[in-house]
Amino acid sequence: MADDSVHSLMDNNPEETVIPHEEAVTGNQNMSKRQMKKLLKQQKWEEERELRKQKRKDRKQQRRLQRQSQDKQEEEEKQDAVGQDFRKRPRREVVPSSLRLVVDCSFDNLMLMKDVRKLHKQIQRCYAINRRAQHPVQFYVTSLGGQLKQSMDEKDKGWVNWKDISFETEHYSEVLAKEELVYLTSDSPNVLEELDLKKVYVIGGLVDHNHHKGISFERAKERGIDHAQLPLNSFVKMNSRKVLAVNHVFEIILVYLEKGSWEEAFFTILPQRKGAVAVDKGDAATPEKGEDSDLEPATNTAEQTEEKLKYSCNRH
Ligand SMILES: C[S@@+](CC[C@H](N)C(=O)[O-])C[C@H]1O[C@@H](n2cnc3c(N)ncnc32)[C@H](O)[C@@H]1O
Repeated sequence: MADDSVHSLMDNNPEETVIPHEEAVTGNQNMSKRQMKKLLKQQKWEEERELRKQKRKDRKQQRRLQRQSQDKQEEEEKQDAVGQDFRKRPRREVVPSSLRLVVDCSFDNLMLMKDVRKLHKQIQRCYAINRRAQHPVQFYVTSLGGQLKQSMDEKDKGWVNWKDISFETEHYSEVLAKEELVYLTSDSPNVLEELDLKKVYVIGGLVDHNHHKGISFERAKERGIDHAQLPLNSFVKMNSRKVLAVNHVFEIILVYLEKGSWEEAFFTILPQRKGAVAVDKGDAATPEKGEDSDLEPATNTAEQTEEKLKYSCNRH
């Protein structure tokens, strides 16, 4: 409508013709055609502000959904690949490892429930993968309580029947010998060369989007416990910080126990969006902040995760 009035006015007036008061939509007297055009353009711009805002929101939402579906697809492909391996493996090949792996859940009060639920899913995934691993580790979940226990009771009551896992309400330091403990943390100056099967490796049960930088390192130092980081720097170049999600650390260790190669373990488990490339193969591609704490296995209970793995096995 605004455009029509400009056209009709412009048709009969030369460039700088003065427009009579009655015809000036703005109510301004003696407005030139150029001024009028500018004003109308401005009005139109203002009118469409909300529309532009909505369009921007829609585009952002679309990008987010695309990214989520890409991540989900990637995760499913990984599960399929892992499932395929399990399927091929006769049961007699399963040799439990003596290595003990702890998820230390003493950070419960530092998380919001939405992040506790993510941690819960990561633990479900660790459990399901461990149950099907060639060399399952001795799996401990310590300091179980608070919001995590609440989430488990609400979302997956079957956890009380989980096998080959030790749930402890106590802190890991009360359950396991101090001199055997090694806290895994990306901030440690010590680099893990290989796994010592007599040790107990501890993973911080935390989903914090890096809000509590270095907290597991600090806690390990406070308690005088050995610590080490995974040898990512020797094999992988990433644009992001090398802080991984609990289940990624857990799964890397399981693959390492099976294949005896850190490189293979990293490239089997790390999500593509971490932009990981081998150290001698140029620069990493995708910048990313923080850990993959938003990784959510697309299932609700450990049994469902197991079912899903079975399903992917049967498809191959
Ligand atoms: C999401 S991270 C927690 C990050 C948290 N800001 C911190 O400082 O611990 C979860 C746990 O995974 C383990 N982790 C993550 N990346 C690691 C790495 N590169 N090397 C060794 N452990 C790692 C640590 O045990 C860490 O506590």
